[in-house]
Amino acid sequence: MDLRRLLAVAALVVAVCAATLTAAVEGFDILQILGKHDEFSQFCKLLNETHLAGDINRDRTITVLAVANGDMGHLTGGHYSLGTLRHILELHVVADYYDDKKLKQLSHAATAASTLFQRSGFAPGMAGYVNITQHRGGKVSFIVDDAADTVKPVTYVKQIESHRYDYSVLQVSGVLSSPEAEAPVAPPAPVNLTDILSKKYCKSFAGLLAADAKVFDTLNGTKDTALTVFCPVDAAVAAFMPKFKNLTAKAKTAILLYHAVPDYYSMQFLKSNKGKVTTLATTSVAKKDYTYEAESKEDTVTLDTTVVTSTIQATVRDDDPLAVYAVSKFLQPKELFKSKTADLAPAPAPEAGPKKKKKKPSSASAASAPSDESADGPSADDSSDDAADKAAAAPLSLFARWVTMTVALAIALAA
Ligand SMILES: *[C@@H]1O[C@H](CO)[C@@H](O)[C@H](O)[C@H]1NC(C)=O
Ligand SMILES: *[C@@H]1O[C@H](CO)[C@@H](O)[C@H](O)[C@H]1NC(C)=O
Ligand SMILES: *[C@@H]1O[C@H](CO)[C@@H](O)[C@H](O)[C@H]1NC(C)=O
Ligand SMILES: *[C@@H]1O[C@H](CO)[C@@H](O)[C@H](O)[C@H]1NC(C)=O
Ligand SMILES: *[C@@H]1O[C@H](CO)[C@@H](O)[C@H](O)[C@H]1NC(C)=O
Repeated sequence: MDLRRLLAVAALVVAVCAATLTAAVEGFDILQILGKHDEFSQFCKLLNETHLAGDINRDRTITVLAVANGDMGHLTGGHYSLGTLRHILELHVVADYYDDKKLKQLSHAATAASTLFQRSGFAPGMAGYVNITQHRGGKVSFIVDDAADTVKPVTYVKQIESHRYDYSVLQVSGVLSSPEAEAPVAPPAPVNLTDILSKKYCKSFAGLLAADAKVFDTLNGTKDTALTVFCPVDAAVAAFMPKFKNLTAKAKTAILLYHAVPDYYSMQFLKSNKGKVTTLATTSVAKKDYTYEAESKEDTVTLDTTVVTSTIQATVRDDDPLAVYAVSKFLQPKELFKSKTADLAPAPAPEAGPKKKKKKPSSASAASAPSDESADGPSADDSSDDAADKAAAAPLSLFARWVTMTVALAIALAA
């Protein structure tokens, strides 16, 4: 096999593995794209204030219809509440991909495209759809499907940026609106974090958070913007308490912040993405990583800190901008506890054990080693772990998975 080809495959695998949840979110940042153009500063500001920017960034196969400052009309000037503004802006986010080329290839009949207003659940009938029409001469117009006669269509101006079949940002000549989108929206009920956390599953964890003013204030201050909390169930907190009590005050604060993410991860997002999770401990403890890997398999989402693997057991709340999930184990960061991947590293173990079987001379290989070990029963050195830790079979280390993937791909390509 060609070495260069193998290296190329390895590079590809590394690139795939290095993808992170944050990258998935930050890979497409509507505020950053529009931020490069001063003329969209007001549209940008409203996308941010209504938290719609986050939803746009998490979405795929979308088209954003941006409006320049001079064309914002009655959207600026404080006529509307944030809730109403959000609905109007949602009409500007089409749940499909349209770039310059695709618009010009449309047939002359109107195409009805669903928008995020439709998805919000507040749009009656067809009020969440936008008609896209290509007129003679190439002009393309957008109009809210259910629009009253008084509502004028807006026209396509130019393409700002596009990423094939993924996202597209287009400029339109004015604001798309409708009486339905402009309807008053009741402000969301204030969220009581303690109340949500202590209802079910996470009473003990809520107690730990409430006892640390710094942690509580940090979470409470983030919950209205974007926050995901992974709260260990009461049994997991009880099992971890002896270790928790041993930690310094600083480490206690760090480990509690480690359970919160300054971003909103819906269950749907967690189930369809994998990668590194950056936590509130990452952002508040200088020079420390404090991240873990999130992964989803057969509808089960796991968080792997390399010390423990914790599983999401229940959704306590999943309502933008706040998500709370009950997890099976206390998340122990590798910054404070011994990582299990360190144990899996090939240690130069002296072959002193009397029970140790002599390996057959030729067939011994890295791949067959683990099964030889398991025949001898579990090793005794994980006595510090609780029973639940043992029940969760030790997953392949990331490295082993990487090697397996590389080899599999190399074989596939060589064939
Ligand atoms: C979005 O709003 C937040 C405050 O809510 C602010 O800190 C941030 O800088 C804004 N981002 C942009 C790109 O305007
Ligand atoms: C949108 O298109 C549909 C047909 O696709 C049509 O029935 C409807 O009247 C159109 N709405 C507007 C406002 O043009
Ligand atoms: C939040 O809920 C907790 C527990 O239900 C309660 O003790 C507390 O008074 C509530 N706080 C506010 C500000 O309503
Ligand atoms: C938590 O934040 C809310 C605002 O969302 C505030 O009204 C409340 O007083 C805060 N709770 C505490 C205990 O600081
Ligand atoms: C707590 O710390 C002491 C002293 O470092 C150690 O002997 C003990 O095993 C620790 N307990 C737990 C549960 O980690």
